[in-house]
Amino acid sequence: MDLAVLFIILSAFFTATAQQIESNVSRGSSLTPITNSKWLSRSGVYAFGFYKQGNDYAVGIFLAGIDPELTVVWTANRDGPQLSSNAILLFETDGRLLLQATRGQRIVIAASIGAASASMLNSGNFVLYNSDQQIIWQSFDYPTDTLLSGQRLLAGQQLLSSISESDHSTGIFRLKMQHDGNLVQYPVNTPDTALYAYYASKTGGSGDNVTLNLDADGYYLYLLNGAGYNIRNLTNYGGYTTRETIYLMRIDADGIFRLYSHNLKQSGNWSIIWSSSDDKCDPKGLCGLNAFCVMNDKKAVCVCLPGFAVEYSGNWTSGCARNFIAQSCQSKDVSNEYTVEELVDTSWEDDSYSVLSSTGKEYCQQNCLEDCNCEAAQYSDRTCRKQRLPLRYGRRKLTDPSIAFIKLGITIRDNIIIK
Ligand SMILES: *[C@@H]1O[C@H](CO)[C@@H](O)[C@H](O)[C@H]1NC(C)=O
Ligand SMILES: *[C@@H]1O[C@H](CO)[C@@H](O)[C@H](O)[C@H]1NC(C)=O
Ligand SMILES: *[C@@H]1O[C@H](CO)[C@@H](O)[C@H](O)[C@H]1NC(C)=O
Ligand SMILES: *[C@@H]1O[C@H](CO)[C@@H](O)[C@H](O)[C@H]1NC(C)=O
Ligand SMILES: *[C@@H]1O[C@H](CO)[C@@H](O)[C@H](O)[C@H]1NC(C)=O
Repeated sequence: MDLAVLFIILSAFFTATAQQIESNVSRGSSLTPITNSKWLSRSGVYAFGFYKQGNDYAVGIFLAGIDPELTVVWTANRDGPQLSSNAILLFETDGRLLLQATRGQRIVIAASIGAASASMLNSGNFVLYNSDQQIIWQSFDYPTDTLLSGQRLLAGQQLLSSISESDHSTGIFRLKMQHDGNLVQYPVNTPDTALYAYYASKTGGSGDNVTLNLDADGYYLYLLNGAGYNIRNLTNYGGYTTRETIYLMRIDADGIFRLYSHNLKQSGNWSIIWSSSDDKCDPKGLCGLNAFCVMNDKKAVCVCLPGFAVEYSGNWTSGCARNFIAQSCQSKDVSNEYTVEELVDTSWEDDSYSVLSSTGKEYCQQNCLEDCNCEAAQYSDRTCRKQRLPLRYGRRKLTDPSIAFIKLGITIRDNIIIK
């Protein structure tokens, strides 16, 4: 027989088999970080198991062997302890999936008693089956920061960003599919209110059970309402998932959510094909307290307020602290101990204790200087909003008509940092 014909027949055979069984993990199997560290999908594209995180290990689903850099699409117990090389992942004979971090400490990853087998599917979904081959647990139901093709974010669910590209513990941003039908982004640990939102699909009022979907066949991100009607296309329809190209959507550590494509053949990079925003200063809280965000050459840069210095260099999460000593509010006239610096096009969260309307800019500045409670003021539309520290969600935007006034001690002592 002609070799080419044999090849075609063989590959057709393997394709057919792959669709039926994919991978099969039986009860009693286990994984360890060093030897036998993962269960592969039939296609070999996805793996479930241990991956390296810093000097330690974590358990999750990742792209196996194709990527020059590790791409993690799901993490089990992401805020749990880092795992040493002695950790064990057990698919117990009772059907539970357990992680033994240290001797005697067992963390349940999937409590589906009665699971008969497990499989790392070609879609990137890790599933547990009962003895009737029905799925009783799947990683697709518990997304972390990523949606894969064919995966949905249900009403009430949210994606939480990772700390960084290499540390998949929970970071500082979230993307929530709300029960009101709106898909909204907020910083973590904030209420679901417009005050904290920095992205919204503007589909509120579309009823309960709206879902965010990344199409199973390719590059297409959209919202479906409870009746299954398409109510919003976030991207146009384009591109197909093939054996060569895969897609994923992720809320990145910087708070923007993006759709990526990856060509498995050209051992290359992920390309961004869509972003929720081009303005990297949009995510509220990117710069921490008493700092503001400026776009500089398409990058977000954090800057401390004048008179402030970054608390931990290289980490903006905790923001900036004063580098001068603030006087207590006892003497009435403090104007000779302070000066006020002006920042144009800069604003932050409005948390004012006093609002002066129909005032001029100079009056706002002078009024803050003389008011010992005033530490900063925002001036826009002839309104002066006086505030105390700390300032949150600061940003500079050229289209922003706001002027910020920051009160500074006259004698700045460089080496003293007082919160
Ligand atoms: C997986 O393996 C188990 C145990 O060997 C077997 O009972 C089950 O039928 C297999 N499942 C598939 C889909 O092949
Ligand atoms: C939403 O889904 C739940 C569970 O499937 C169902 O009970 C409820 O009726 C649905 N609500 C609407 C408005 O469709
Ligand atoms: C989204 O795109 C699909 C396919 O192009 C189209 O059928 C649908 O009407 C669009 N939905 C909305 C809300 O525009
Ligand atoms: C992948 O990205 C890196 C850094 O962004 C770049 O240096 C490299 O050339 C890219 N490789 C390909 C194949 O695009
Ligand atoms: C930055 O600091 C915060 C709070 O101090 C900490 O929780 C976080 O892990 C730090 N991030 C990095 C990337 O070091």
